Parts: sequence; structure tokens; C-alpha cells
Amino acid sequence: AEPGAAMAVPQAGQPGLTLLGRVGVVDPYSLDDYRAHGGYAALRRAFDIGAAGVIREVTDAGLVGRGGAAFPTGRKWQATASQPAHPHYLVCNADESEPGTFKDRVVMEGDPYSLIESMTIAGYAVGAHHGYLYLRGEYPRALRLLQNAIDRARARGLLGDDILGQGYAFDIEIRRGAGAYICGEETALFNSIEGYRGEPRSKPPFPVEQGLFGKPTAENNVETLINVLPILTGGAQAYAAIGTAQSTGPKLFCVSGNVSRPGIYELPFGATLGELLDLAGTPGEVRAILLGGAAGGFVRPDERDIPLTFEGTRAAGTTLGSGVVLVMDDTVQLPRMLLRIAEFFRDESCGQCVPCRVGTVRQEEALHRIQDRTGAEAAGDIALLREVGRAMKDASICGLGQTAWSAVESAIDRLDVFESRGAK
Ligand code: NAI
Ligand code: SF4
Repeated sequence: AEPGAAMAVPQAGQPGLTLLGRVGVVDPYSLDDYRAHGGYAALRRAFDIGAAGVIREVTDAGLVGRGGAAFPTGRKWQATASQPAHPHYLVCNADESEPGTFKDRVVMEGDPYSLIESMTIAGYAVGAHHGYLYLRGEYPRALRLLQNAIDRARARGLLGDDILGQGYAFDIEIRRGAGAYICGEETALFNSIEGYRGEPRSKPPFPVEQGLFGKPTAENNVETLINVLPILTGGAQAYAAIGTAQSTGPKLFCVSGNVSRPGIYELPFGATLGELLDLAGTPGEVRAILLGGAAGGFVRPDERDIPLTFEGTRAAGTTLGSGVVLVMDDTVQLPRMLLRIAEFFRDESCGQCVPCRVGTVRQEEALHRIQDRTGAEAAGDIALLREVGRAMKDASICGLGQTAWSAVESAIDRLDVFESRGAK
């Protein structure tokens, strides 16, 4: 399969797919086709139960953020909705840039109206009249499809001054990123929309209090937002019955690397890593699996029983992040892969704070040297990597610096990647 294709897997006991059901089925340009496949039923229900009712349903469903951090969505919406300052904003983070992550692209290209409907519902819930969709600059097809969807929805009264005659006004503006990974960090993203350099702000204050233009803002990932549709159409209880008690609902996994069938897999939370690998097929001798992307961590092939839930990966000392499952077999030179990850973070660091600006350079240098070293020299580089990694983790302002050492650390501790050098 072409990487990025939706390789959706129906959930046990369910006739269809919850999130990817329309991908590859509907004409992504056609609003009529979207409506013929259940589109806009969720928005109608939202108007029936009111803004507070929507937040209650999302909270009862147990929905947590799918961008990687798993923050409770209902809590975020409630906190935004209750702010006295106005206006409130809704921001969809579609700046999908974590290496190995391409789930949001599949949704936006295959079922763009679902995101427009979800943003309208989220805007209604938090009391926003203006939504921004911050789209990764390298997604030109998604841009065309989303702009088309916005224009058609507006022409049919599904965006604008009086949506579905319910007296609610909401519109969506697309802003494109310009290739910087850091602009996916929510406050750097706000700065980018406001016309400033894409540098993260210190938190708190959290965006729910002071976000875009200093106003209360709910910022959500694409996948998080589209989960609102099944929650409203099927009810919170049915949704919460999918997955586990702490990680409810379906999850999109981005499977790539040395697998037979790369693509996006929709599975209920709780499937194991091994089950997912079996679906994707691993023809070679698997050497390592990177979970959660460059900001995540490596696990060994014998760790197949790790449950793919937020709590399960945490208990196993790793992370689910944005759902990356990048498989590497014995043809991959792992030290070179670590160097590539380090180059990536050095390149993408915004340079605002010292631990990350300097640490990512030192990390790359040490990994460069260690490629050809053994014994005490290699051990010295590993000690330096640990020291620099600790400083980045403890003292960086944002998630980029805090996680820039995670993959390297896991490769050293979990995979013993430099063991053969006599370095440990
Ligand atoms: P975070 O844990 O700081 O925040 C998560 C969300 O919860 C944010 O929206 C934040 O504003 C909100 N929040 C946290 N505490 C709050 C409070 N007390 N009150 C109100 N709101 C609160 O994590 P961050 O830095 O936003 O995201 C890190 C994650 O992003 C990582 O797990 C990483 O996997 C992921 N990531 C995903 C990428 C992608 O392309 N999907 C790219 C890079 C990183
Ligand atoms: Fe910028 Fe890195 Fe500091 Fe984040 S941790 S603000 S990316 S320098």
C-alpha cells in the first residue's frame, strides 16, 4: 500500500469504522455525499443538547487529546467556555509534523467535511465565533480540500452568521505553516498566527485562559476533534465502551518503516503492539520499534505485549504520543538513525532557550563522534549524552527540548544500541 493510505481495521463487534468509515468511501469534495453518509447529524444533536450538553457528553466519553499529550478534552473545553474574557477562540492544530505521523493528513484528505463539522461543534461548545485551522504547509492537497469544504459549508448555511437557523455564528479561517516543526507547539502556533516568530510561550498561563491574541482558546488536534462526531451521534456511553477505562474510544495508528502494509490503522485502545504488528506484517527480523515518533522512545521486538493505551505505554516506560509505530528491521543502522533524529531536533529547535539550543547541538556532536568510537571514548560520549539529555529534559521551556533526548536515551537503555562498542 502507498504510505499514508488508510488501512483501517474494523473494531471487534462493530460493523464499521468509527473515525475512518468515510475515508475512501465519500467524495471528499462533495458536501451532499458527506451528508448522505451521516454528515452533520452530530451538529444537529449538538444544537439539541446545547453547549453545556456537548461538553458533558465529551467529558463523560472520556475523550483525551490525540496530538500526543492526552489532556482531557472536556476539561479543556469547560475551562475555555467558563472564561469571562471575550472573544473565545477555537484553534485546530493540523500542523502534523511529528516524524512518522500522517494520520491527520489521511483524515483531512479523505473526509475533510468531518473536520469542519467537528470544529463547528467545538466552537459552539466553548463559545467561539471564530476558528483557525493551522495547517501544515506541506499538505497542499489537504489545503485544497479543506478550503473547498469551508466554502461549500458556508454557501449552504453550515458556517456563517446563522448556522442551521440556530442563531449561532461561526466561521473558519485556514492559516498555513511554513515548515517549522516548532509551530505545532500550541503557543508557538498562536505566535505564528499573530504574525510573530514561531517561539513557544511559557505556560502557565494556559491557552484556556490566555491563548490566541491573549484570549481564552481551545486548541485541539485534528484527530481529537473528529472523535466528537461519534460521541454525539452514538452517545458518550457507547463511545466509552470502546477501548479501556482510562483510554476510551478508537485510536489511529501511523504504521511505517519495515512493514508489509504501511498506513493508518484504526483500532480500539487496548490492542497490543504485537497485534498491530501482525496486521501490518513484518517480513524482516525486527530490531526495534519507535513509539510516539522522534519525541517518543524505542521498544524491543520482544515487548509485543505492551497495550497500546496511554496508561499501558506509560507503565511500560514509553509513550504512545501521537500514535507513531515505526518499525526497523536489521537492515537499519540504529546509530545512524539516532544521529538523524538528533540532526532533526538541532535543526528544529527555535533557539529561544539555552538548554535546547545548545543541548541539541552537543547531542548531535556526541552522536556523530560515537559512530566510529569504542571502549572508553564511546563511554565518555554516552556519559555526556546523559548529562546533556538531563539538562534538556529538566530546563527546556517546551516539549521539543524536553523530549529531544528521549529516543536516544531509550536506544541506549532499552536497546543497548552501543553495547557492542564495549562502552557500558
Ligand atoms: P502539554 O502536556 O503541555 O499540554 C497538553 C494540552 O493540555 C495543551 O493544550 C495544554 O494547554 C493543556 N493543558 C495542560 N495543563 C493544563 C491545565 N492545567 N489547564 C488547562 N490546560 C492544560 O503538552 P504539549 O506540549 O502541548 O504537547 C506535547 C505532546 O505533543 C507530546 O506528547 C508529543 O507527542 C506531541 N507532539 C505531537 C506532534 C504531532 O505532529 N502530532 C508534534 C510534536 C509533538
Ligand atoms: Fe525553543 Fe527548544 Fe526552548 Fe522549545 S525548548 S522554546 S524549541 S529552544
